[in-house]
Amino acid sequence: MKVNGEHYRSIWFDSDSGRVEIIDQRWLPHEFRVVALQTLEDFAIAIRDMWVRGAPLIGATAAYGIAVEMARDPSDAALNASWEVLHATRPTAINLRWALDEMRALLAPLPAASRAPVAMERAHQIADEDVECNRQIGLNGLDIIKKIAANKPKGEPVRILTHCNAGWLATVDWGTATSPMYHAIKEGIPIHVWVDETRPRNQGAQLTAWEMLSHDVPHQLIVDNAGGHLMQHGLVDMVIVGTDRTTANGDVCNKIGTYLKALAAHDNGVPFYVALPSPTIDWTVHDGIAEIPIEERNDHEVTHVQGKLADGNIGDVQISPDGTRGGNPAFDVTPARLVTGLITERGVCAASPEGLASLFPEHV
Ligand code: MRU
Repeated sequence: MKVNGEHYRSIWFDSDSGRVEIIDQRWLPHEFRVVALQTLEDFAIAIRDMWVRGAPLIGATAAYGIAVEMARDPSDAALNASWEVLHATRPTAINLRWALDEMRALLAPLPAASRAPVAMERAHQIADEDVECNRQIGLNGLDIIKKIAANKPKGEPVRILTHCNAGWLATVDWGTATSPMYHAIKEGIPIHVWVDETRPRNQGAQLTAWEMLSHDVPHQLIVDNAGGHLMQHGLVDMVIVGTDRTTANGDVCNKIGTYLKALAAHDNGVPFYVALPSPTIDWTVHDGIAEIPIEERNDHEVTHVQGKLADGNIGDVQISPDGTRGGNPAFDVTPARLVTGLITERGVCAASPEGLASLFPEHV
């Protein structure tokens, strides 16, 4: 996608320097910073401390982390240790384990001396595959937007609510939830996006709003508590969110607060869609609430808010009394029964074992 008119992915290999580079998302929207990740430790810190974030991007970053480590030390010990180090960074998004497993399954049978170039090639493929999946998700989601648009008075925008950032910054390119929106804009279908701010880290306010602005997508930032009210008043035509892990029965784990949006959507008859590439499906899990590990993050993210200060610097402001502790579960699970449909690269299906099996029969 574009930043000031220039095309960027969220992670790329710079062939001039021979380094993997990322957009350091901690400073957006106020500063656009690119950094190189050069060691396994750099990759682990970047994922753990959310320089990069979003399930598909975490997976691609981990793949590059393994590739960079293989260039330093292609031994079995280094392969297994890098899998462990990267896997320990964030527990909820399944794309991380998927990408690490892909890399290890490919590399382990090879002689150590031949691993480094194969690892880098597979990391590039994982990044490219993510872009193509998300492009397809966009086209499949676009069909849904078109149907809703066809039932509205001509020229009236389809009003879409989204939560967190499941945009191109959360993937390698296009985004998942945002891809249908970008495709709608390309096709000239009027849309209006309600962007949930997404406390505590404000991925909506800081990242999704920035993306929407950069691509001229009409949007408004709303507080997390506004969605139910807007739905009651008929101001939301559909919800599209991303997911960090969707189970084999269609339960959807996503950024904290997604479940409340799904409840409000259900109560108001608003269709609630989840956009995901297939590596986000955890075929081993059948009960999202009981089985998915939910990341508990530092309570500083709750007691403080980051933003641009009056002096122009980016900093934190404390919003609660000294001594009040925060609680910070980072994700929640929306039961399959509240999900209208899953938008995948292979098509749209019901959030159910049968629905998923219809698109991914090889996993049954
Ligand atoms: O904690 P984050 O910012 O990594 O959480 C991101 C989300 O919850 C996204 O909605 C999800 O990863 C889907 S990204 C296409």
